[in-house]
Amino acid sequence: MKIIAIINPKGGSGKSTLSTQIAGYFASKGHKVMLGDADNQQSSKYWLTQRPKTLPLIRTWEYQADLVLTAKPPPDITRLVIDTPGALDGWRLKEVVARADVVIVPILPSAFDVQATKAFLTTLSNLTKDQHTRVAVIGNRIDARTISGDKLKLFLNSLDIAVIGFLRDTQYYLHMVEHGLSMFDISPSKVEKDLIQWESICSYLDNL
Ligand SMILES: Nc1ncnc2c1ncn2[C@@H]1O[C@H](COP(=O)(O)OP(=O)(O)OP(=O)(O)O)[C@@H](O)[C@H]1O
Ligand SMILES: [Mg+2]
Repeated sequence: MKIIAIINPKGGSGKSTLSTQIAGYFASKGHKVMLGDADNQQSSKYWLTQRPKTLPLIRTWEYQADLVLTAKPPPDITRLVIDTPGALDGWRLKEVVARADVVIVPILPSAFDVQATKAFLTTLSNLTKDQHTRVAVIGNRIDARTISGDKLKLFLNSLDIAVIGFLRDTQYYLHMVEHGLSMFDISPSKVEKDLIQWESICSYLDNL
């Protein structure tokens, strides 16, 4: 069983979006998936309530947010994806980082986000120094027409950290939330551009 935690204390960076997409990816590959929602906002749980019953099953806990950080999934689960709240810190952050096989950090291209995430990546690097936990970053909501995306790429590439993909800003992500869907549940021709962007992320996830 592998644990994938999606963390960035900065609000709105795309944690719940990525958690649901990644859970959907693993389910489409035949994994027994659990999506733990450790955020009181319960965005990932909402997504699950919208998910059509005909799609590959993704399980969750009825626990309160904090319990999700420490709860053990049923023995048949092969992938546990944990969606975390903004402002995660202290023992909660330590606990989830220590448990995770990989921490995935979504980051937006705005200067505010880059500055806040820089500090978080330093914290994360200290927390994972003597542990097995890997860290990977995904640039999110990158608009190819703006230079902020290029700046983000330069910044990320200057760090000693795995940068596993860049995702564009598209309304598809909002529609998918409404219908409990991931990129991997819909006709590939509709999300061709996005699936190309997901290739490097999926290949990283395949090799955990
Ligand atoms: N690549 C994207 N393209 C377009 N919209 C996006 C993208 N990624 C995220 N969003 C939208 O941005 C908003 C914030 O995303 P999300 O809820 O996933 O962030 P979060 O980090 O979980 O936020 P919070 O810290 O509040 O839990 C949502 O409305 C989501 O639909
Ligand atoms: Mg969220």
